[in-house]
Amino acid sequence: MNKAELLYSGKAKSVYYTDQPDYLILEFRDDTSAFDGKKKAALARKGQVNNQFNAFVMEKLTAAGIPTHFERRLSAHESLVKNLTMLPVECVVRNRAAGSLVRRLGVKEGQTLTPPVFEFFLKDDPLGDPMINDSHILTFGWANQGQIDQMKALTLAANRVLVDLFSAGNMILVDYKLEFGMFKGELILGDEFSPDGCRLWDSETLEKMDKDRFRQDLGNVIEAYEEVGRRIGVQFD
Ligand code: C5P
Repeated sequence: MNKAELLYSGKAKSVYYTDQPDYLILEFRDDTSAFDGKKKAALARKGQVNNQFNAFVMEKLTAAGIPTHFERRLSAHESLVKNLTMLPVECVVRNRAAGSLVRRLGVKEGQTLTPPVFEFFLKDDPLGDPMINDSHILTFGWANQGQIDQMKALTLAANRVLVDLFSAGNMILVDYKLEFGMFKGELILGDEFSPDGCRLWDSETLEKMDKDRFRQDLGNVIEAYEEVGRRIGVQFD
């Protein structure tokens, strides 16, 4: 599979065409950003750590019956994925209160959420990714009812797999974000799953082990990502 021209360069990943229209190459860069790109840095080893982490989690989700775009890891920084037509929404599941939920509703950080909270956000950087609901999605045509139902069902099915995976590594999966797209008429999980797009706390100390370490200047960001990976069985190169 040969890498062809650049399709898109995001804040942390670049996407390349290949010589086959059904496949793309994701390149995980060392760049990181937060607060809608207002805070930026390059963190050594981040690209390769997230590439391996994502490959491991995507394989676990596939094994649990959740269809994903992930095909295989190609190099330290690159993975081959299916070429999805992405839906412009983000799906967030929350098992504990944190982040924007705490700011929005004034609830206590760390509060257990039963049942887990599900939220949609519109992928729109200039608007700051506003929260939206099913009604907005249908009216503006960002997805149809079947796609909405499938995104919710797959995101919550993934939650059961991921909560158990991280809990076995003595971590709490606080919340996470998934994105979906269409491939040959089927709705499939796309993008990535890494500590950049979720919150993970140590079960005993409640120490933050995810991108909040970067957002809040807590230091040892990539060391924490690697520790999370080791605890769930990722064997880093
Ligand atoms: O900021 P907020 O609390 O709404 O984020 C919820 C979860 O979704 C967090 O784990 C965060 O890292 C993730 N997220 C993301 N990309 C975004 C927005 C949120 O990965 N654009």
